[in-house]
Amino acid sequence: KQPPSRKGSMTDVPKNLLQTIKDFEGQFTVDTKKLKEIVDHFVKELEKGLSVEGGNIPMNVTWVMGFPNGDEQGTFLALDMGGTNLRVCEISLTEEQGGFDITQSKYRIPEELKTGTAEELWEYIADCLQQFIEYHHGEENLAKLPLGFTFSYPATQEYIDHGVLQRWTKGFDIEGVEGEDVVPPLENILKQRGLPIKIAALINDTTGTLIASAYTDPLMRIGCIFGTGVNAAYMENVGSVPKIAHMNLPPDMPIAINCEYGAFDNEHVVLPLTKYDHIIDRDSPRPGQQAFEKMTAGLYLGEIFRLALVDLLDNRPGLIFEKQDTSKLRKPYLLDSSFPAAIEQDPYENLQDTEELFERVLNIKPTPAELELIRRLAELIGTRAARLSACGVAAICKKKNITSCHVGADGSVFTKYPHFKARGAQALREILDWAPNEKDKVTIQAAEDGSGVGAALIAALTLNRVKAGNL
Ligand code: GLC
Repeated sequence: KQPPSRKGSMTDVPKNLLQTIKDFEGQFTVDTKKLKEIVDHFVKELEKGLSVEGGNIPMNVTWVMGFPNGDEQGTFLALDMGGTNLRVCEISLTEEQGGFDITQSKYRIPEELKTGTAEELWEYIADCLQQFIEYHHGEENLAKLPLGFTFSYPATQEYIDHGVLQRWTKGFDIEGVEGEDVVPPLENILKQRGLPIKIAALINDTTGTLIASAYTDPLMRIGCIFGTGVNAAYMENVGSVPKIAHMNLPPDMPIAINCEYGAFDNEHVVLPLTKYDHIIDRDSPRPGQQAFEKMTAGLYLGEIFRLALVDLLDNRPGLIFEKQDTSKLRKPYLLDSSFPAAIEQDPYENLQDTEELFERVLNIKPTPAELELIRRLAELIGTRAARLSACGVAAICKKKNITSCHVGADGSVFTKYPHFKARGAQALREILDWAPNEKDKVTIQAAEDGSGVGAALIAALTLNRVKAGNL
């Protein structure tokens, strides 16, 4: 179901604000033709990433070779280091097919840690793990609990239980980790603390999502995250990955690829960037990286919204918020994506929730006409993010000649941002040319917990392979 349009409420908006709204519409609208252009370029870039020369999109080989069959069993620890939270889980895969029990604790990653030192990061993670284990475990033998470490950043893996961080994404900027294997420092610190935990597999959240979703739904072909960052994983055949041809593996062997497609179009060939997107990139810790992610992911949606309003304050003096103290609005990253999300969620015709939100968070009291502009801006940013997000999914489908499948999705934007699902589905219909009365053939649906259950499954699959001598 598409969200209702509020065009009718624009009747009382003065001409100059209406013109501003039109300008924003021009900048943020991505029509069908543009979506298709983006997808065509995207498919080529996915291919390039698999080639020996490589491209912008890393297309990381994960060494997850195939889907679970439902018989996986055992108890595992999972450590999930996402962009916003750290989670520790204990997962028991039960005898019943597709069944599991989970115990978990969630910790918010402190802001200062994201730009702190490597030692502080590993200490913090070890603290969380230790706390979890002391609370839930007592004296049990930990060595029996293999750990799946969901490290949701681009990593080069030669084996499943190691991974060299290619570069930080999602606003992280911790010195001394890029270019290094992230497994040994964590294992070392755990050892120092007398926690004999073995990291069985290092996985990406998208790979976990793919595997966890396929565990309960055989039609799942792609795992996606639409959260603080954006990315997807899918199952490839070894024979279609030229960059590992030298390993002489059977060509029809399945192998999961973590695309890392947040890096799509870092050269800005096809993405319709606004001046706000350029500012976000310029002021980020890694300019020139993650172009696609910076236009679509939760980390940036509130900031795009803020930058658009600041632009009006600076370049159209007197147009909005006259005689108001706008100093709070000038603070970078003050607004996270829950801010435009809440504006879009405002059910009142007079936008009273939005008015209250502006007063409470920004100390600004917008006029009714300004409220209309604010609402429209939030809609445009949310719609653009959803439509662009669909391009990544469509590109994988096209690359693999998939005409119908299920896509497992997770992440705060997917689960919480209003209308994101409907807008994404609509974009898919346009890109993939389904007839108006045709049922959606590719559907993006809520995934199983990839970073927890998916990590446990991958650890189980890995141990089964080790047992069978198939590493
Ligand atoms: C960023 C990370 C990627 C992760 C995604 C979603 O794009 O680089 O590894 O999958 O965020 O969390």
